[in-house]
Amino acid sequence: MTFPIEIESLAKTYRGKKRMQVEALRELSLNINQGEVFGFLGPNGAGKSTTIKILMGLISATAGSARLFGTEVRQAAARRNVGYLPENPALYDFLTGREYLSFVGKAFAMTDGAIAERSGVVLEQLQLTDAANRPVRSYSKGMVQRLGLAQTLLHEPELYILDEPMSGLDPIGRSLVKDIIRQLKRQGKTVFFSTHITADVEAVCDRVGVIAKGKLQALDSVDNILRSGVEGYTVQINGGGDLAAHGYTQLEEQGGMREFLVPKDQFNDFIAQVAVEDGKVELIETKRKDLEEFFLEIVKQGNVSA
Ligand SMILES: Nc1ncnc2c1ncn2[C@@H]1O[C@H](COP(=O)(O)OP(=O)(O)O)[C@@H](O)[C@H]1O
Ligand SMILES: [Mg+2]
Repeated sequence: MTFPIEIESLAKTYRGKKRMQVEALRELSLNINQGEVFGFLGPNGAGKSTTIKILMGLISATAGSARLFGTEVRQAAARRNVGYLPENPALYDFLTGREYLSFVGKAFAMTDGAIAERSGVVLEQLQLTDAANRPVRSYSKGMVQRLGLAQTLLHEPELYILDEPMSGLDPIGRSLVKDIIRQLKRQGKTVFFSTHITADVEAVCDRVGVIAKGKLQALDSVDNILRSGVEGYTVQINGGGDLAAHGYTQLEEQGGMREFLVPKDQFNDFIAQVAVEDGKVELIETKRKDLEEFFLEIVKQGNVSA
């Protein structure tokens, strides 16, 4: 079985002047499944862009290997079916948005007809139709970012490699990008994107890999992480007798309504006890560690072990 992305023991050491070395990536191994949205989450300087640049053939790895759809990333053919958004897209700013897309379409050997049709579609998708005939020079940062994304969609590739696609966008732009990612997922496409924002991962990803100090620190489905983060529940009840006598922690009391903090492993017993005492459960809320806390813990641990 070939994966859209296979990364095997990838390492990258940047060698600067005066024997200055930066170990940007160490022994990174990771497979991305067909049809998944994968969040590559890490703080600044973690090695996200380095990984992506290696996948895109822009820099070479010091050790290890990577393949796209089974083809070594050293070969340009590996990227035939890939849309790529660089971290700070520097587009030819003397071209108009439409001309830029046309330039990209030709690079992917699209016909003039296909370029015209697809350009219209993606400009509309990224709300750039009104700006399509203006030079990119006159675009705001957010518009450039959106044109960069439009360009990845143009030839309808199977795999999308996006380096911080939500960066530099206002809330409307971010929500637009998230919608596009969800739409790609519905079409069965594979999306690999980097970010340092946990909420973006929570919103659209199936799986997340946490990278810090050039190492993969965690890899799991977002669902699993959120489920494993459940610490307990706050339960509001009406009536229910002397539950504190059974060792349960009462947080609040208002009128006949009481709120208890119940650890995960005592939840069933608590509910049973409420029923025995003729109480009524009114509201249950899950208390969980969110992805942000999970991420911060891992990054801190990463610092310790590095
Ligand atoms: N061309 C380069 N020369 C030297 N060091 C670099 C170069 N590019 C990146 N680095 C260093 O490699 C590390 C990883 O950088 P990068 O992959 O850009 O991280 P991220 O995208 O996660 O913020 C950082 O310490 C960064 O300073
Ligand atoms: Mg980066």
